[in-house]
Amino acid sequence: PRFAAIIVAAGSGTRAGQAIPKQYVRWRGKPVLRHSVEHLLEAGADRIVIAIAPDAKDLAREATAGLENIMFVEGGATRRASVASGLEALALDPPEAVLIHDAARPCVPLAVVERVLSALEHHAGAIPALPLVDTIARTQNGVMTGQEDRSTLARVQTPQGFRFAEILAAHRAWDSETQPTDDAQVLRHSGGEVAIVEGSQRLAKLTFAEDFAMQAPPVRTGTG
Ligand code: CTP
Ligand code: MG
Repeated sequence: PRFAAIIVAAGSGTRAGQAIPKQYVRWRGKPVLRHSVEHLLEAGADRIVIAIAPDAKDLAREATAGLENIMFVEGGATRRASVASGLEALALDPPEAVLIHDAARPCVPLAVVERVLSALEHHAGAIPALPLVDTIARTQNGVMTGQEDRSTLARVQTPQGFRFAEILAAHRAWDSETQPTDDAQVLRHSGGEVAIVEGSQRLAKLTFAEDFAMQAPPVRTGTG
């Protein structure tokens, strides 16, 4: 099916603590942002709107040099505002479906894109997610005060897929005080149904400095 993509890259990457925003740091030979732009184009996105900070135009152009069918829009103060800005740009020539993706997740497996898009045949939205493997504790002042039933929880990733008209309307109608951390929350707030498909470990988000060493060979220090 025909689809467009939005990559949100307007964050400042505070927790990663790099000299420049994390999406422009070189990782495995390329700027982080370039990886997901290439993967989404290869997966068949007919155009990609990239939301960037106004002061990062040069970094963004350099990171995507030579790639076609991409355009930049100015992101906002929150992730949600950055997505909304991308949606409004696409609304001038609306696609049937859109994938919304975090620039901070450089690897986008084709199989995940296919699972998300095929779920859109029956749902207004579809998100990749993985089960939790650790015990999920409630904490207060450094003490465990309870636990969650992890079998009813999932770790949600991007790219998230939506029927374009539905997610555009949901963003335009968003009126909650809370800051959503993804677009599935925005669609659900408007009453849309969100399917969950299998995500991938490769979609892990680069958040902290140590995440940039992700999947490097394990360091062995003695026998301890
Ligand atoms: N993002 C965005 N606009 C914002 C905030 C975030 O486009 N105003 C994007 C980021 O660039 C990132 C994605 O949303 O690709 C996920 O956000 P996160 O991992 O939190 O990145 P940052 O907000 O940049 O990092 P931090 O929260 O550590 O400052
Ligand atoms: Mg953030």
